Amino acid sequence: MLRHLPSPRTPEPTSAPVLRWGIMGPGWIAQRFVGGLHKHTRQRVTAVGSRSAGRADEFARRMNIPSSHEGYDALLADPDVDIVYISTPHPQHHGCALAAIAAGKHVLVEKPMGINAIQAQEIFAAARTAGVFAGEAMWTRFLPKFDVIRQILDDGVLGTRRTVVADHGEYFTTDHRIYDPALAGGPLLDLGTYPVALAQWVLGEIGQVAAFGRPATTGVDGVELNGQIAATMGHAGGGQSLITTTILADTPTTAFVAGENAYLSVPGPFYQPGPFTLVQRDGEHLTHEEEPAQHEDGLHFSAADAARTIADGATESRIHPGADVIATLDAMDRIRAEIGIVFPGER
Ligand SMILES: NC(=O)c1ccc[n+]([C@@H]2O[C@H](COP(=O)([O-])OP(=O)(O)OC[C@H]3O[C@@H](n4cnc5c(N)ncnc54)[C@H](OP(=O)(O)O)[C@@H]3O)[C@@H](O)[C@H]2O)c1
Repeated sequence: MLRHLPSPRTPEPTSAPVLRWGIMGPGWIAQRFVGGLHKHTRQRVTAVGSRSAGRADEFARRMNIPSSHEGYDALLADPDVDIVYISTPHPQHHGCALAAIAAGKHVLVEKPMGINAIQAQEIFAAARTAGVFAGEAMWTRFLPKFDVIRQILDDGVLGTRRTVVADHGEYFTTDHRIYDPALAGGPLLDLGTYPVALAQWVLGEIGQVAAFGRPATTGVDGVELNGQIAATMGHAGGGQSLITTTILADTPTTAFVAGENAYLSVPGPFYQPGPFTLVQRDGEHLTHEEEPAQHEDGLHFSAADAARTIADGATESRIHPGADVIATLDAMDRIRAEIGIVFPGER
């Protein structure tokens, strides 16, 4: 039985080699990403590209970025950009990433890497061929708290891993892009990706999938899209997972991971910085104490990992490799197939 939790081994983000970052798609998450880089790292954000010159200028002024570009091609032609952070909506990730790789840039793509596993495979393959880095900004996986969880898992403290239960629900009004079918709306790609990725990471290869979905009606034109999903997955190693996700309600967004000898209980939001507790069969409770924090105090860990990986000459993160990204998207493809969700361009 464990008597003390390990400490996170996450390197200090300010010590990561400095890259020059270009921002593609200056929206909600891009603002928090740039804010986090400025606050917690020595990374330089040198340029921003928007479909509109006005939005690029305004974002550059507000976020203290030296260059702004009208159009993403102009951003990709900027010689002062080493790596492009792609924060466009999900269906645009694939085209934006391939264009950036073709321009010789490294890419860090917001989650999910693409709308399906094939898109992610194509991005990683293109990056490998071009000899540039491609990564998914699944920020959760890079957080110090998840390095502690990784050590607990690797050291076999849980014993044989049996069960993952994880949830992510958030109430959105119907004017948000998450209600737009043309932008691959619904809960799965924005929110469900966190619990599915956790299950894939902890329990490994996914065998069977069973899923139920419930529709929601968009406010704009009354079009139906998926509003919530419950899925169970049987993993090849013998474990099973249950994930729930919804855009129709705020939920606790908690997770637990259970093995024969102990379980990890992660209070919501499980995917953000914060505490968790290890409960062992002898009754011992060990708590990882960590101040809860949000995006601007967490997104930078994945950027620092990208900078270190590139300095090492590798094209994929060791912490969150392409195989995990593709396996998670493959599981989401199979969840969608169960429910009959097809995204634009997939037919
Ligand atoms: N890691 C996280 O915690 C987290 C949180 C939220 C979102 N995300 C991810 O980040 C991505 C962006 O989400 P967001 O909430 O930041 O979205 P957002 O606020 O709508 O920003 C997306 C930006 O993409 C650009 N864009 C390019 N093509 C577009 C199109 N066809 N329609 C709309 N915008 C388009 C727009 O900028 P210009 O037109 O100015 O170029 C827009 O500002 C999503 O894939 C999402 O999953 C991650």
